[in-house]
Amino acid sequence: MTDNATDTNKASGATAKVLVLVGSLRRDSVNRVLAQVAADNAPASVEVALYSGLEKLPFYNEDLDTDQVDETVTRLRDAVAGVDALLIATPEYNGTIPAVLKNAIDWLSRPYGSGAISGKPVGVLGAALAQYGGKWSHADTARSVGIAGGKVVEDVDLHLAIGSLEGRAVADVPEVVETLRAAVAILVDHAVTVDA
Ligand SMILES: Cc1cc2nc3c(=O)[nH]c(=O)nc-3n(C[C@H](O)[C@H](O)[C@H](O)COP(=O)(O)O)c2cc1C
Repeated sequence: MTDNATDTNKASGATAKVLVLVGSLRRDSVNRVLAQVAADNAPASVEVALYSGLEKLPFYNEDLDTDQVDETVTRLRDAVAGVDALLIATPEYNGTIPAVLKNAIDWLSRPYGSGAISGKPVGVLGAALAQYGGKWSHADTARSVGIAGGKVVEDVDLHLAIGSLEGRAVADVPEVVETLRAAVAILVDHAVTVDA
C-alpha cells in the first residue's frame, strides 16, 4: 500500500473506474491478493483501485454523522461516489461479515437514500479458510449492501476456499485469475447498463 487513499492499476486512459474495499486488514491478506489480482488482470479500459484506510474510520455513530463529518469518512464517501462500481473482497469472520467492512458500509449508507453506495453496482467476492470459502460472509455482505442501497451484481460470485489453492499463489491459478478478470468485466458491464 502507498500513502495514497488508493492504489490504482492504471495511470490514465481508463473509461471505467472500480474501487475495491477489502474486508481484511491483515498484511498478508488473501483477500487483498484477490483484489490486487483482479486489478492486475482487469480489462484495459478499466481502472481498478484498492481502497486503503478503512481501519481509520470511526465506528459509525449518528452523532458523528453531521455536516462536520470526520475527514476519513469524507474521503471514503468521495472515493466511492467517484467510481462506476464497487468490488468487495472479504473474508468471513465468525460466520459473517468483518466489522471493519460493515462499518464502511454503514458510513456509505447515509444519508439514507442518497449515500455514496446508493444505486452503485457492487460485486462481492472473497476467500476464507472454511470449505465453503466464506459463503455466509458473502451472503451477509450482499444483503447489507442491498439494504444500504447498493445494486448487488449477483453474477459476481466467488467464495474461494483458501485450501483449494494448495499453497499456490492466486496469480498462478488460471481459473481464479479468470474468475477475477470476469468479475471486473461483469461489474463494469453492469455499471454501463445501469447508466444507459
Ligand atoms: C476472527 C476470525 C474469525 C474467523 N472466522 C471464520 C469463519 O467464520 N469462516 C471461515 O471460513 N474462516 C474464518 N476465519 C479464518 C479466515 O477465513 C482466514 O483467516 C482468512 O485468511 C482471512 O482472510 P485474509 O487472508 O484476507 O485476512 C476467521 C479468522 C478470524 C481472524
